[in-house]
Amino acid sequence: MKNKTGDIIQRCTSDAERVRIFIAEQMVSVVRIVIMMGLSLYFMFSMDWRLSLVAACAIPVIVGYSAFFHAKIGGSFEKCDENEGILSTIAQENLTGVRVVRAFGREEFERKRFEKQNVYYTGLWISLMKLMAVFWGIGDFISGLQVLLILVLGSVFCVRGTLSAGEFIAFLSYNMMLIWPVRQLGRVISEMSKAGVSIERIMYIMNSPVEKDRDNAVSREETDKALKGDIIFENVNFGYEPDIPIVSDINLTIPAGSTFGILGSTGSGKSTLMHLLNRLYELPEENGKITIGGVDIADMKAEDLRRNIGMVLQEPFLFSRTISENISITNRNMSMEEIRKAAKIACVDEAITEFKNGYDTVVGERGVTLSGGQKQRTAIARMLTSRAPIMVFDDSLSAVDAETDARIRRALSESLGDSTVILISHRITTLMQADQIMVLDKGRIVEMGTPDELLEKNGIYRKIYDMQLSLSEDETA
Ligand SMILES: Nc1ncnc2c1ncn2[C@@H]1O[C@H](COP(=O)(O)OP(=O)(O)OP(=O)(O)O)[C@@H](O)[C@H]1O
Ligand SMILES: [Mg+2]
Repeated sequence: MKNKTGDIIQRCTSDAERVRIFIAEQMVSVVRIVIMMGLSLYFMFSMDWRLSLVAACAIPVIVGYSAFFHAKIGGSFEKCDENEGILSTIAQENLTGVRVVRAFGREEFERKRFEKQNVYYTGLWISLMKLMAVFWGIGDFISGLQVLLILVLGSVFCVRGTLSAGEFIAFLSYNMMLIWPVRQLGRVISEMSKAGVSIERIMYIMNSPVEKDRDNAVSREETDKALKGDIIFENVNFGYEPDIPIVSDINLTIPAGSTFGILGSTGSGKSTLMHLLNRLYELPEENGKITIGGVDIADMKAEDLRRNIGMVLQEPFLFSRTISENISITNRNMSMEEIRKAAKIACVDEAITEFKNGYDTVVGERGVTLSGGQKQRTAIARMLTSRAPIMVFDDSLSAVDAETDARIRRALSESLGDSTVILISHRITTLMQADQIMVLDKGRIVEMGTPDELLEKNGIYRKIYDMQLSLSEDETA
């Protein structure tokens, strides 16, 4: 989660591709270059060693220059690539976010931004081409000089009679055969260093630690049994960054089978507590512990734990597949009946059957064909099919109206059975039915008790209660 998704994808695609190209193409040319150079030099030395020495002396110069040239050009190519990426990000953002752009009247601004980047990108290519022109020119000149030197010296030797005209011609052809591989060698060297960088970037991912369960993790059966028990947070402290605490001194007990409500302003740490509960983030050992049915969740296998905790995340994510596939993601063999049953409880069946393709409707790119409320309810249906003993609704009904909210909760309470339910919501009417409510403020528990107890306390809960309920009375009045 520390790495941007785009960066990870780039490491998996362009870096892997660069290494592949190096191995597939450059390795072959390395073999060819070595053979060509070796043979040419062998024949040249067997004809005239003095002339060959002169020819060979130029090799390091040409290789060095060529390596330097390709390294330099490579950097510019990378810069072009990078800026092409920026350009396409701007285009992509504006296409996907076209409604936001228009709603805020930012068309002109965004157009200018694109144009600016486009001009910059074009400029980069033009200067790269100029650079190429200069470098190729100089490269040709240097290798030309070497040929000239051989030509002059060879002619002198011929005139003196130490070299025959035939040998001289043959020598010249071998020299020509030598030059090109030598220039290629410089290129290979610079490609090799780039491939090296790519290998490093790939290894960073390959070597990153895999999510690991403890060696002495409790068995699956025991976990399944434990997860039907009470959830207990003991002195839990946690922050995403080491020095920035997000939740502090959390002590709470959620009895098995009860409904537990959490109320708190945005950013107070509600979702964070849920991330800890199913170990999307690990709680460091000295930061307290979370037990379920008496077993520390750190001692369970992550897979067993998560299978037993149904979560509707705050920002439900649906895959670009059909609705029925999205709902039955926990079990591919689920029957249509089961899928529909879950959808009915989540009050989304009606909406889905109204679609032309019903349950076979493919959810569009990032779920754009579904409304926010439909997405949330589909996610609830998906969670219900897992029949987990612990169910978490993280603000899962925020995008549906109060009436639908009530309908879903009624249907839920009939079907949840003896599951432990954690309800996070900003809506008092949603929380009112909970057995216990905790009020969280800036990562600390400020109130906890039954809804009636909290009403009497005259604290935050009471304030929000009065505010929301008087509002709804105003509406009905
Ligand atoms: N992955 C993360 N990395 C770093 N900081 C995070 C991360 N997720 C949340 N935070 C920070 O932790 C704090 C608590 O966030 P959290 O999502 O738990 O709040 P919340 O109570 O669920 O709020 P909301 O009601 O808006 O959903 C926020 O200040 C947020 O910026
Ligand atoms: Mg949240």
